[in-house]
Amino acid sequence: MAQTVRPPRAWEAGREEFPVFTRALYYNTCSLGALSRTVADAVRAFLTLWDELGAAAWYGPWLGEIEALRTGFARLIGAHGDEIAIFPSVTAALTAVASAYDYRTRPKVVLSDREFPTTVYQWLAKVRSGVELVTLRSPDPLTVPLELYERAVDGRTQLVVASHVYFTSGAIQDVAALARAAHRHGAHLLVDAYQATGQLPTDVHEAGVDFLIAGGLKWLLGGPGIAYLYVRRDVAAALRPTDIGWFAHRNQFAFDVARFEHAHGARRFEGGTPAVAAVYAGRAGLDIVEEIGVRRLRERQVELVSRLVAEAHARGLQPRVPAQVTDLAGIVTIPREDPAAVVGGLRERNIIIDQRPGLIRLSPYFYNTPEDGERVIAELAELERRGIR
Ligand SMILES: Cc1ncc(COP(=O)(O)O)c(C=O)c1O
Repeated sequence: MAQTVRPPRAWEAGREEFPVFTRALYYNTCSLGALSRTVADAVRAFLTLWDELGAAAWYGPWLGEIEALRTGFARLIGAHGDEIAIFPSVTAALTAVASAYDYRTRPKVVLSDREFPTTVYQWLAKVRSGVELVTLRSPDPLTVPLELYERAVDGRTQLVVASHVYFTSGAIQDVAALARAAHRHGAHLLVDAYQATGQLPTDVHEAGVDFLIAGGLKWLLGGPGIAYLYVRRDVAAALRPTDIGWFAHRNQFAFDVARFEHAHGARRFEGGTPAVAAVYAGRAGLDIVEEIGVRRLRERQVELVSRLVAEAHARGLQPRVPAQVTDLAGIVTIPREDPAAVVGGLRERNIIIDQRPGLIRLSPYFYNTPEDGERVIAELAELERRGIR
């Protein structure tokens, strides 16, 4: 069964939970959180249950673990358990949400060119079926000014879709202000919080968002295969998604093929059987985040990121960051002519970072130290001196 870790005595002690640090300096949580011993143990516990109980594992521990995952994620974002649906990916969650609207009455979906591509594709592919897609072109490479949304949203807008933290800049968007801008015209707001949940405190009720999606891969330390959809109670009650499966039925185990009745709450958006190994991994990852606490994690992120940015400036590397470090989450980007060569150069020195077109991404988490950041920057400066930039 998934065990919980004790909060680290010192942040550095938390590293013992993550074996990758015996081999490399891991600095890439925005792509994939490091594997912890407790997550590996949880997956082994799942395999043992499968072996020992067979199908009986469903009605005992497995369905229980799925419910525990749902309520654990709900706690993290200040939601109720019945406001959370579980999916194998964010894309699957988006598909279910997109299927819940009648675009004949309100055809407009407003988003920006700073979103993660899968979010944009979801609506771009529906233009043929009547969606009027408004893609805001942001003049700011880091974020999207609120005024652009305020100008674009009107009485024909069904949905506003926006990132809480931008994947190519780490900049934090004011989602409460976006919710107000959407609601002023009767539109809903869907927040892509994949790069936020875990490292940034979020209270969905306070922020007033209608939907929030996130996944286990990055700051929730649970690996691939689990994504979460928050749907506010009254919003879920008013919608009838059509891209659904048997987990969305009000009485799933009645196996009634004559009638489909939507379940209460966010579950009405769900599809089929979740990947239970990923549920176990996801729960163990969430436990780590919850034990440390998102507020403490955010304080640590601000400390790590401030030191990293200062060091990068001092070495003349020109990080692309907002004026205030408090507007930045744990992703620091630096424009590079040949990002792949830089990532490869650091890999030869056992430092794991990541790239996107035209830039590298450095992303510390609590298991990193300020000294890690100094080392990463020193190695980048050394590569630059050798013409690898
Ligand atoms: C902001 C953001 N949204 C969505 C995704 C991916 O979603 P999916 O689970 O569909 O692969 C990512 C993953 O890298 C992401 O960074």
